[in-house]
Amino acid sequence: MTRLGVILSGRGSNFLAIADNIASGKLKAEIAIVISNCGDAPGVATAKLRGFKTAVLPSKGRKREEHDRAMLAALREADVDLVILAGYMRLLSPWFIQQFPGKILNIHPSLLPAFPGLEAQKQALEYGVQVTGCTVHIVDEHLDHGPILLQKAVPVLPTDDEHTLADRILAQEHRAYSEAIALVTEGNYRIVGRRVLLDQGNAQEKSSF
Ligand code: GAR
Repeated sequence: MTRLGVILSGRGSNFLAIADNIASGKLKAEIAIVISNCGDAPGVATAKLRGFKTAVLPSKGRKREEHDRAMLAALREADVDLVILAGYMRLLSPWFIQQFPGKILNIHPSLLPAFPGLEAQKQALEYGVQVTGCTVHIVDEHLDHGPILLQKAVPVLPTDDEHTLADRILAQEHRAYSEAIALVTEGNYRIVGRRVLLDQGNAQEKSSF
């Protein structure tokens, strides 16, 4: 069974959606550890309440690679196969990324490459796009950049503000992340250039979330 190491900085609703899909048996994986760089992250409190192994590794004032080394030690100790960034609001060092080649996933609340970085939903509204969404991608050394595993589109409504739009995107994020994790744990895909090419079996697997 694939062992997930979840890294988060805040609310943790994506983590919770993944945990719920595992608990209900829809997603075949296990959460080995939940790591947060913020001690007061609600996501880490939820993880503790649910009985998951947790680690708080404060990043403030620490050099990036020093913090990443502490995270790597915790992930290795928990025997993690796949790293899941779930609202981790800090860049990873290239060194860290090399420790899990192709095995670090991130979710971002836009259809990348549009609107990388902070406040993607606000950026989408201000730009005036009529469709936005979310992206799950494999992490490389650039921000919100690696090969795309899965995207879900969300229409922007005339009545939307950044909160209503963020809520509707979030509902799709909760489905998309588990689908993408299922793709990776099944492993029936090839990466050609930037393209992630799925096989038939995986295309069916996707529909269950
Ligand atoms: C999510 O919307 C996620 O896509 C975003 O942070 C939120 C975390 O919510 N991540 C990024 O913007 C990363 N660039 P959550 O803590 O409730 O899962």
